[in-house]
Amino acid sequence: MSALDSLLSQLDPKRLPRHVGIIMDGNGRWAEARGQDRLVGHREGSRSVRAITRLSRRLGIRALTLYAFSSQNWQRPAEEVAGLMALLREYLVGERDEIMDNDIRLSALGDLDKLPRLVREPLDALMAESAGNRSMTLSLALSYGGRDELLMACRALLAQGCAPGELDEARFEQCLYTAGLPPLDLVIRTSGELRLSNFLLWQSAYAELHFTEALWPDFREEAFVRALIDYQARERRLGLTSAQVHSTAMKLA
Ligand code: FPP
Repeated sequence: MSALDSLLSQLDPKRLPRHVGIIMDGNGRWAEARGQDRLVGHREGSRSVRAITRLSRRLGIRALTLYAFSSQNWQRPAEEVAGLMALLREYLVGERDEIMDNDIRLSALGDLDKLPRLVREPLDALMAESAGNRSMTLSLALSYGGRDELLMACRALLAQGCAPGELDEARFEQCLYTAGLPPLDLVIRTSGELRLSNFLLWQSAYAELHFTEALWPDFREEAFVRALIDYQARERRLGLTSAQVHSTAMKLA
């Protein structure tokens, strides 16, 4: 049995997270440690994107949201931003068949109007083409910031003329980019940093957090399954007591 199969055998398929968010960090350090340009790290990171997407789909995870480019990332050196945009285009063009063949719906969250045409065009095309796919939603956070998203939702509610008494969590969630997706169950961050860095601030309220020292280009199938095993070892109380959680679980069983 391979190391991956042995890890997979430890997973309970009935208790997988429905929605996983990943802060893909450490591409630059991965490249610098090898004396390479940072873009080499981003390119290797896109191979991790492919591996984790494939495995998520195979396991039946319903939604995978990847933090690919933050609203702050525009401030990086122009050369790195241009290289990342070129890589995103290459990914969107190169992964088209894999996404369609696997019934994956591609979605994007963030201020997409800021993206250059070379990304926006293949992104819009693949989002439209895959809109009817149902097995998994792969969302790319691009030019995304969690605070921006909350402000966007507030502006939308004001524009709708929403009265204070009409506003509740469900109505607010309808105005977020993640409307319609399952609740975020697990957030993974690579590279040893212990922050959310403005990723899915509202949605992560009750998510389990998994931090790993692995740099994103090194985060492949085995590391992902370890994160899922860690998730399954957690007791998700959602504000209840442990006794309440256990009695609910017994009633459901
Ligand atoms: C953070 O690493 C990573 C990014 C800012 C970009 C993430 C992009 C990819 C994984 C590749 C392209 C994406 C897709 C969807 C194909 P960092 O550069 O901040 O690393 P560092 O902290 O070590 O400098």
